[in-house]
Amino acid sequence: MKPLIDAAIKAYEHAYVPYSKFPVGAAILLDDGTIMTGANVENASYGLSMCAERTCLFHAISVGVKKEAIQAMAIATPQDHLVSPCGACRQVMRELMPLDVPIYMHSKAGTETFTNDALLPKGFSPDDL
Ligand code: THU
Repeated sequence: MKPLIDAAIKAYEHAYVPYSKFPVGAAILLDDGTIMTGANVENASYGLSMCAERTCLFHAISVGVKKEAIQAMAIATPQDHLVSPCGACRQVMRELMPLDVPIYMHSKAGTETFTNDALLPKGFSPDDL
């Protein structure tokens, strides 16, 4: 858990957040021990901004990572309170990671752990199509 959280902390150092000044980093652990990361990337057209969690997962999937290989995700911010993923990220996380993976949310307040499933109970899924 600590190396994954450390990777998420390092990831937020690369966040592009000139508008919100609210850096977020995300990191996933794969079953071969690989860690992949992402950070939030904003845009002057604010609605085009992308959260750290989706940056991380879209990159992983786009280079061939299978969802079954993902074992955990860490999300880190330098805030002094817990920061929890937005609804859009929860929807993407539910589809692109197994439901039982632990999500470690880390801030200066400490680390809290939830499962992917707990973050979006009864979420919309490919099975609903
Ligand atoms: N943000 C994330 O990257 N992940 C979250 O879980 C919450 C919010 C970003 C979006 C935006 O760049 C900034 O944080 C402030 O909303």
